[in-house]
This record gives sequence, structure tokens and C-alpha cells, in this order.
Amino acid sequence: MEIRYTAQILTYGQFRSIWNLTRPTLSLGFSQAVFYLLPLTNGLWSSGDYDQSLGGASPEMTEKLLYEGKAKKIFLTESEDELLVFYKDDATAFNGAKKGQIESKGQLNNAISSVFFELLETAGVRSHFLKKTGSNTMLVKKLEIIPLEVVVRNIAAGSLSQRLGWPEGRVLDEPIVEFYYKDDALGDPLINNNHIAALKLASPCDLAFLEEEAKKIDRILSAYLLARRVRLVDFKLEFGRHKGQILLGDEISPDTCRFWDAETNKKLDKDRFRQDLGEVTEAYQEIYNRLTCQAVQKYRALVKVRLKDSVLDPQGEAILRSLSSLGLEDFQSIRVGKLIDISVVGENEREVSHKVKKLSDDLLANPNMEKYSFTVEPVK
Ligand SMILES: Nc1ncnc2c1ncn2[C@@H]1O[C@H](COP(=O)(O)OP(=O)(O)O)[C@@H](O)[C@H]1O
Ligand SMILES: [Mg+2]
Repeated sequence: MEIRYTAQILTYGQFRSIWNLTRPTLSLGFSQAVFYLLPLTNGLWSSGDYDQSLGGASPEMTEKLLYEGKAKKIFLTESEDELLVFYKDDATAFNGAKKGQIESKGQLNNAISSVFFELLETAGVRSHFLKKTGSNTMLVKKLEIIPLEVVVRNIAAGSLSQRLGWPEGRVLDEPIVEFYYKDDALGDPLINNNHIAALKLASPCDLAFLEEEAKKIDRILSAYLLARRVRLVDFKLEFGRHKGQILLGDEISPDTCRFWDAETNKKLDKDRFRQDLGEVTEAYQEIYNRLTCQAVQKYRALVKVRLKDSVLDPQGEAILRSLSSLGLEDFQSIRVGKLIDISVVGENEREVSHKVKKLSDDLLANPNMEKYSFTVEPVK
């Protein structure tokens, strides 16, 4: 590759300390400040990797800039067929009306997208992704982007809730696939297959492929996320053409998806920025952590706790006496216990059983007087 990231980059810590020191006195944009700070920091540059923390591109990269979007910069490479995508910390919402920065978003979205593209690849979905090349960069196949945003929805939120008056959180019977015309000047309007044909964006056959592919991606991502206690509420995809094939392109990240925590429904995506909910970087980080942790599944554990045979059970005795006073002599012995019904998540039955045993030993049963037994089974 022609793009070289040589001997000019600060480590993240070095850069942040200089940035924090100089910020109050400089009324410069982030990338301008980086440019001006270059001579001051000569001795601090570490050679090798391009450190994304600069939030902008090195001079060599700027020369090769093909396109700068709201969230990413696209660079040409030595290869005609390949592009370098640089993920920025810039955040926009409401079609660019709200602008800001989300600290570390670039590197988190690059890492999250890389995980998703690799997951999809192994599940047979072809995409532009070639490899992650740095903390903020990935190498991709160059696509001729189809100007359509393909949105899949599993739960009502955002513009669907507004358009149909459906409360946020309403679970849809079937996923809904929508198409939006990717045109910032028009505000990315919702369009249907007739508009798509009139605009000559995709043939009916290509459109059917996009819809099926989007649904397949939904199934793969939803299952993977749910196993990590995340609900995939909705998401946006972009596709493009490469050597006669349609491939998945762009990114899959908290910028382009709605993710809710499966237990609490806490928003873990760009809605935190849109709605000023705070803890935005933390939410993106949480998604990355969940994606890279072991899958968990929900289990139901039933713990039966009873008095040991050697311990007198006054409750059982009392019931037995009442029965006998009613003339029901067939009942020979009664011992009362308790049933504890537990919902628990874990990686597998063995691990969950271990947790339930520890809980029973430590808390649920008194080892001097009580004994216990339990069952664990996965919940669908
Ligand atoms: N593999 C690819 N080849 C060419 N263009 C791409 C590829 N992947 C994504 N793009 C385009 O790169 C642009 C930059 O991304 P982004 O900053 O998200 O732009 P936008 O402001 O349009 O959302 C987008 O227009 C996207 O369609
Ligand atoms: Mg975009």
C-alpha cells in the first residue's frame, strides 16, 4: 500500500496530555491543532502504527482522500479495488442538524464493525470487509454504493414509532424491511419498490436479493447479540456492486444500529447522543465488550430445600395431625420444604449448575439443618 504511517504519530496518552494542556489556549479545530502540534512533539512520535487518536488523517492520507462523509473518511490505496476506511469520532444526528464528537467512537466503531463483518463472513454473507488495519482503519473492497439505506426493524422505535404511532418497544410479529433513498439533500426519504424502479437504483431481482440478504443478516446478528444479552432493535445497511456482485458495505455499529440491553432495555447506541442521555462512549464500549465476550443463555433453576431427615419438622407434624383428625390415616409422614424458582444467565449448563450450587450452599440452605437438590434447564 502506498499509504505510509511513518514516524509521526503520538501514542494516545501522549497526544491526549498535549491536547489537554494546549486546549484552553488554542481555538483550533481538532485536526488543525494536530497539524500545529506536529513540530512540538517530534521526540514523542512513535513510528509504525497510525494512531487513530489524532481524530484526523496524516498528511499522506489527506492527499489520497477520496471522500469524507459524516462518520468516515475513505482513502484510495495502491490497489484500484481496495479502499481504506478511517472511522472518525464525529457524530451527527437528525440528518446533520445535530453535530458533536463522541470520544473514542472511531476506534470502537471500527472494532465493532470488524467483529460483525467477520461474524457475517463465517455465516456466508459476503461483504466489502478485508481486514482491520489499525485502531481506526479497515481495508475494504471498493464498491459502487447503491444509494439505498436498507433498514431492518425488529422492535418499534425512532421514525417507525412516529410514522405509525407505535409505542417504542413494541415487538414486531415479523421483521420489517424498509428502503430509504440515500440523499442527504432530500433528507433520506422512505421509498418503495416502485420509486426504486423509477430511480433505476436496483432491478426487481437485485431488490429481492437486498431484502433477503438484509433479513438473513438480521437473523445472524440478532441471535449473536441475544446470546450476549443485547436486543437488536433495528439497523441500517448499505450495499454496493463489486465485479458484478452485490456485497454488503459501509459499517455495522452503534451509529447504525439500535441496541438495547436485554434485561433493562438500556439504550446502548447513538440514541444516547441523539437524546442527550449521557454515557455515550461507555455504551459503545459496552457493545464492544458484549460482542467479544462468551455467549450466554438464559436458564431456569429450581432449587428444592428441605429439612434433613434427622431434624424434626413441626410444620409437617402439624399437617399430619390435622389429617389424622380428619380420619385420613393413609398419610404416614409429611415434611415441608421450599421451592426456589430462579432465572439465571450463563455460558452453559455446567457453569450455571456450579453457580446455583454455590448460591444454595452460601445462601439458600442452612447446612446444619437443611439439604437441597436442584435442576437447571435452558429457557427458549
Ligand atoms: N466499500 C465501499 N466502497 C465505496 N464507498 C463506500 C464503501 N463503504 C462505504 N462507503 C461509503 O463511504 C461513505 C462514507 O461513510 P460515512 O461517513 O458514513 O458517510 P455518510 O455521511 O454518507 O453517512 C458513505 O457514503 C458510504 O456509502
Ligand atoms: Mg454513514
